[in-house]
Amino acid sequence: MSNTAKLELDGIAYTLPTLTGSENEKAVDVSALRATTGYITIDDGYGNTGSCTSNITFIDGDQGILRYRGIPIEELAEKSNFIETAYLIIYGTLPTQPQLKVFSDLLTDYQYLHEDMKYHFEGFPSGAHPMAILSSMINAASCFDEGLMNWKWGKNKLFDIYVAKLISQVRTIAAYSYRKSKGLPLIYPKQNYKYTANFLHMLFSMPYEDFDLKPEVVKALDLIFLLHADHEQNCSTSTVRMVASSQANLFASCAAGVCALWGPLHGGANQAVLEMLADIHNSGDDGSKFITAAKDKNSGKKLMGFGHRVYKNHDPRAKIIKRACDDVLSKLHITDPLLDIAKKLEETALKDPYFVERKLYPNVDFYSGIIMRAIGIPMEMFTVIFAIGRMPGWIANYKEIMEEPKSRIYRPRQIYTGKTTNHYIPMGERK
Ligand SMILES: CC(C)(COP(=O)(O)OP(=O)(O)OC[C@H]1O[C@@H](n2cnc3c(N)ncnc32)[C@H](O)[C@@H]1OP(=O)(O)O)[C@@H](O)C(=O)NCCC(=O)NCCS
Repeated sequence: MSNTAKLELDGIAYTLPTLTGSENEKAVDVSALRATTGYITIDDGYGNTGSCTSNITFIDGDQGILRYRGIPIEELAEKSNFIETAYLIIYGTLPTQPQLKVFSDLLTDYQYLHEDMKYHFEGFPSGAHPMAILSSMINAASCFDEGLMNWKWGKNKLFDIYVAKLISQVRTIAAYSYRKSKGLPLIYPKQNYKYTANFLHMLFSMPYEDFDLKPEVVKALDLIFLLHADHEQNCSTSTVRMVASSQANLFASCAAGVCALWGPLHGGANQAVLEMLADIHNSGDDGSKFITAAKDKNSGKKLMGFGHRVYKNHDPRAKIIKRACDDVLSKLHITDPLLDIAKKLEETALKDPYFVERKLYPNVDFYSGIIMRAIGIPMEMFTVIFAIGRMPGWIANYKEIMEEPKSRIYRPRQIYTGKTTNHYIPMGERK
């Protein structure tokens, strides 16, 4: 098989190299295209553009496959937990017992925020969206840390400390931002609690009473973190890589990822799903009228939690989360009319030619909102939960950029379609 591609432009033939990934994904390498031909490529929405080579996560959207460092998401969901999976994603291999102990100890050692950061939380108005607080405070952490202010990349113990700081502190910041938005006293993390239990403790305990940590609730939230831990070159991860390519520090790069994740077409979708289900419920519809509206481009409605840029088959995370959702609701003896509407929507859409022909299947957000609601996570925190979960993926991608000796600043080109040379008109002569 040829490992070159032929291209003809203005009557001249060019030969371009191709490359093949370890899962047989193929690409035409256009790195030298502009220099040799004067042309660039245009790819609206980047659907055909590989921005990098990466060895972290593999997705086959047609077959519904997701693997972190080669390990299927189904295996990790069943056998691992968020922190072990975070290590796998960031460092490339499953940790040995001593490695996991060192990692866990670092997470515990660095879970406290600088005390002065508390005053910054005071400055946000009550009702501020926790995603705005989260991205601001991750970035603000740089002001309290000499190492981040004078950041110099080095693959060393210091970087391991910043990895632990970020994973651990994002959880503390997230919990504080929620407490602040509700006017509740801040709760410090506990030394002896594991990662996810500690987050629930900081979110829901009171100074006079610890939150009752039900194992099934802790497990369900840990699973949600794990399922979100990485998803190759999506909008927020590409943003992190873009910022990282300028050699910005780890916290600044990941704070940018939080901003990208906030949008309703990305991480904000789980909140949008619940809002949609609540609207359907409140209007007395069982989902049938909404499905009709979602198919009508003029209605301004979409079936939130359906469709994906990459998966044109079932999102494997959605299957896992749907099972977990049924399990948690039955263990907690919760019945939820929104879950009934969600099931009806799913059943109807999967039989409807509009959704079938466009290969629109439920994505991870379709059921994650219902689980989070069942375990008491407030709706405005849904996207924050996604951000906490995605942190290992962003960090691993940051690390990959920094470790690439040939890494260059990301700087796409454009095709200019504006006015050609134009001239300044003095104010008095303008019409
Ligand atoms: C995820 C999403 C942004 C992917 O966008 P995309 O890859 O650009 O998909 P497209 O816009 O090309 O969609 C293809 C077709 O399906 C339609 N479509 C896509 N998602 C749809 C949805 N959720 N409801 C109704 N129609 C949808 C589009 O209107 C388009 O129709 P057309 O071919 O008649 O113009 C999109 O499916 C969406 O908005 N989903 C809802 C939000 C969501 O759940 N996001 C979470 C992603 S994890």
